[in-house]
Amino acid sequence: MLSHIVLKDFRNYVDLDIKLDNKVNLFIGPNGQGKTNLLESIFFLSMLRSFRTSQIRDIRRIGGNGFYIGAQVKTEAGWSKSLEVEYTSIRKLRIDGSGISLASEFIRQIHAVAFSPEDITIVTGNSGLRRRFIDMLIASLTPRYLTALQNYSIALKSRNSVLRSQKKDVDTLKAYEQILAQNGVEIVKYRQDFLKMLEQEIKELLKGFNKGNVDFSIRYKIQNGVTNQESYLARFETERKKEMFRGQTAFGPQIDDFEILYNKKPLRNYGSTGQCRLISLCMKMAKVNIFASRENDNKPLIVLVDDVTGELDQMTKSYFYQVINKAEQAFFTFTDLPSDKYFDEAKVYKIENGIVIS
Ligand SMILES: Nc1ncnc2c1ncn2[C@@H]1O[C@H](COP(=O)(O)OP(=O)(O)O)[C@@H](O)[C@H]1O
Ligand SMILES: [Mg+2]
Repeated sequence: MLSHIVLKDFRNYVDLDIKLDNKVNLFIGPNGQGKTNLLESIFFLSMLRSFRTSQIRDIRRIGGNGFYIGAQVKTEAGWSKSLEVEYTSIRKLRIDGSGISLASEFIRQIHAVAFSPEDITIVTGNSGLRRRFIDMLIASLTPRYLTALQNYSIALKSRNSVLRSQKKDVDTLKAYEQILAQNGVEIVKYRQDFLKMLEQEIKELLKGFNKGNVDFSIRYKIQNGVTNQESYLARFETERKKEMFRGQTAFGPQIDDFEILYNKKPLRNYGSTGQCRLISLCMKMAKVNIFASRENDNKPLIVLVDDVTGELDQMTKSYFYQVINKAEQAFFTFTDLPSDKYFDEAKVYKIENGIVIS
């Protein structure tokens, strides 16, 4: 579990130093005091990215020079590990004091699942948000997927810039097409398998919410010719002329979408707000279940719950807590102390203007 967090110049925290020793933790305080910021710092430690901004500069305290996150992680076996992230003009990562140059070797020392009110956009938002959710989820389970995505996106950028150049050299385009086809097929295959697993998990969760009668499915809107390398390359042959005209690669995993069907109808277009919320909650709960069921992984699973339980009814809440409880540690934010029995044993941290006052 996380046993110690130090923040310097992170959002509205000038200098925070808190010890933690409890499974369930509550960050309580009025709006705008820094509750979400604190959850964000824990998530950042896990993935080196935020769950609410893609801009590192948003995170640095206004008026500060850089930021620092330090944490102590106690493992079940009884030893501990220190993690440090420092962003000034350069990024420094350390595990147990030793510098780590690759982000891939630093991330996932803790697994974090963050629940936030914006999760509903996974269902209601544009396809880019769904891809981001799926990509992050698969990547956090399968490092190989992240590599394929990175290879793909570098080659895609390069190919697009050749498509936009004066010369539009076909041999150069073809060289990138090889990389795109190879990694694209791999990405599609991972997504297909993974979406099946996610669909199954969500069906189970719906049963837990007493909604086992809902016909739920996720449809991967797969494009023509992307499931094997030969047909992928063949598709480039038919698209290349048009792509040269448009200056952009016309197909591939970067424009895939996943349709979420609720009683056979697209949730995004036909769902009530309540149904969209429930399914987006299930998406994140599925992530908890998937992490919790993984064996041979001694990295702690930490759940961060920001402002999402307020609108759940009692029955929904109690099943939600039951699933969350599989995590090794959980952090919740509330403006007022919640009355649910689940929090009887919780440790309370009151937050006021970037300071933990008790
Ligand atoms: N980079 C930053 N530097 C300084 N303050 C920030 C920064 N980003 C956000 N804040 C401040 O943090 C506060 C919001 O914190 P937040 O954690 O979202 O509050 P809440 O307790 O409502 O979850 C606001 O007062 C905001 O001005
Ligand atoms: Mg908040």
